[in-house]
Amino acid sequence: MKGIILAGGTGSRLFPITKAVSKQLLPIYDKPMIYYPLSVLMLADIREVLIISTEKDIPLFKHLLGTGEDIGMKFSYQVQDKPKGIADAFIIGEDFIGDDHVALILGDNIFYGQGFSDTLQSANKLTNGAIVFGYYVNNPKEYGVVEFDQEGKVLSLEEKPANPKSNYAIPGLYFYDHKVIDIAKNIKPSARGEIEITAVNEEYLKLGELKVELLGRGLAWLDTGTSKGLLEANNYVEAVQNRQGLYIGCIEEVAFRKKYIDKAQLLKLSESMKNTDYGNYLKFLATR
Ligand code: DAU
Repeated sequence: MKGIILAGGTGSRLFPITKAVSKQLLPIYDKPMIYYPLSVLMLADIREVLIISTEKDIPLFKHLLGTGEDIGMKFSYQVQDKPKGIADAFIIGEDFIGDDHVALILGDNIFYGQGFSDTLQSANKLTNGAIVFGYYVNNPKEYGVVEFDQEGKVLSLEEKPANPKSNYAIPGLYFYDHKVIDIAKNIKPSARGEIEITAVNEEYLKLGELKVELLGRGLAWLDTGTSKGLLEANNYVEAVQNRQGLYIGCIEEVAFRKKYIDKAQLLKLSESMKNTDYGNYLKFLATR
């Protein structure tokens, strides 16, 4: 399974914060936002990741993440010239995906909670069709929304409906088989001019190959779409990290726990950030 992080767009909903800086590079407490979705793909045992962003921002992501070799990963980068829609990721990523399955995560989606690694690892075992998730929210109008019948069978999917048929939003994390490339190529732009990820999911629903897994309320899916949401995400990460002394979204830690890197490599990474809490945390992991 390959992984894609979609980290482009104009960030216009966060202007002026994102006029000069990519949204997905903004700090969420002590690390750049993209670390969180990247750590999710890593927890799903995905080692090859394509990062898609704007021409202006790709050099910054390369500067931050490099080839991935230092954490036992393999990163590649591609430009999206215009924000044509989330499903455009599969057209841009066609060669990268090759004959493989693919997981897509939006660069501004943050997940954290018990059991999530298991959820990710079982989604990685997908052999056919699509797996997406459902998460209960109080503002479904702002998301892709899924409607179920009494037996939990999916009845409909709608993108940002004015009158949502349920409170279940579909978060920005999707697992697909290889068909997704052809499906994306055949999606017509919506009224807002985008090739919608919800239209891709509707195609899988028509084929009878869409699985929607509900995420429980013990899982946090945080919104970074507004300055208030950003502040809340910062506060959430700070509160959990300081209470436990364990970090959320620490890509070096995931690499170490998955044995992609050894103690010596982790210590080397900690040296490059010494005199920061982050660097000290890596050292603590390597030496405890
Ligand atoms: O966060 C989950 C939601 O993400 C889903 O529930 C919706 O179904 C899905 O459409 C999407 O809704 P958003 O309104 O959040 O999409 P937005 O246009 O804000 O794009 C999400 C991220 O993807 C954002 O950080 C920018 C990036 N993006 C978006 C588009 C359309 C790109 O990099 N390129 C694009 O072409």
